[in-house]
Amino acid sequence: MTDNVTSETASAHSEHASSTSDRPIRVGIMTCSDRGARGERADVSGPTLHNLVVDHLSGQVVQYRVVPDERTPIEATLKEWADEHKLDLILTTGGTGLSPRDVTPDATRAVCDREVPAIAQAMFLESLRITPYAMLTRATAGIRRRTLIVNLPGNPRAVQENFGVIAEVLPHAIDVIRGVDTHASHAGHRRHLHGGTAQSPPVLETRTARPAPSREDGPIARNVGGPPC
Ligand code: MTE
Repeated sequence: MTDNVTSETASAHSEHASSTSDRPIRVGIMTCSDRGARGERADVSGPTLHNLVVDHLSGQVVQYRVVPDERTPIEATLKEWADEHKLDLILTTGGTGLSPRDVTPDATRAVCDREVPAIAQAMFLESLRITPYAMLTRATAGIRRRTLIVNLPGNPRAVQENFGVIAEVLPHAIDVIRGVDTHASHAGHRRHLHGGTAQSPPVLETRTARPAPSREDGPIARNVGGPPC
C-alpha cells in the first residue's frame, strides 16, 4: 500500500456492516513500528486491517502510513488525518504494549477530545478469552473532532481478533459521531453479522491473517506456547 490509498483499492465486498448514511466510511490505517518505519520488516498488520475494513465495513482506506514508535509522528499523523482529511475512522496497530517504546495509547489520549473506554474494554475482554497476554495491551479508543480513533495491538492475528469484536458496532458509532439521526434506521442492535451470537462474537476472516485459535470455556484463556508477542 502507498501512503495515500486510492478509493479504487477499497471497493465494496459482500458481507459487511453498513453505515446508515450515504457517505462511505473513510478510514486511515497507521502502523506504529520502529522496524517497519526503518524498512527492516514488512508491514503485515496494516494490510490485514485494510482487508478487514474493505471486506467487513465496505470502508475506503484513504490513508496509510508506517511510523516509528514515537509520540511526535503518531500525534502528528492522528491530527492531520482527523483535522485536515476529516477521516471517519483511524485504526492504529502496534505500540500498545508495555515496552518503553510503546507509546501509541499515550499519543492517542493526548490528541483525543473524548475517550471511548468501552471499545478498548470490549476488545480486551474478548481477547482475554483467547490469550492471557491480552493483559499486556494498553490500547485505548477516543474521538478527536468527528474522527473515531481505535488502537489495536501489533500482531496480525491480534488485529483480526480485536477488529472482529468491534466491527459490528463501528458503522453505528461513526454515524453517531457524524451526527446522523440513527433512531429511524437502527430499531434494534442485535448481533446479526458474520455468524456471531450473543455469547460469541464473530471471528472475521481475512485474506492475510492466520486462523484464530479455539477458545477455552473460562473467562481467561490458559496460556499455550508462550507469549505471542
Ligand atoms: N490480543 C489478542 N486478541 N491477541 C493477541 O495475540 N497479543 C497481546 C496483546 N493483545 C494479543 C492481544 C500481546 S502479546 C501484547 S504484547 C499486547 O497485545 C501489545 O501488543 P503491541 O505492543 O504489539 O501493541
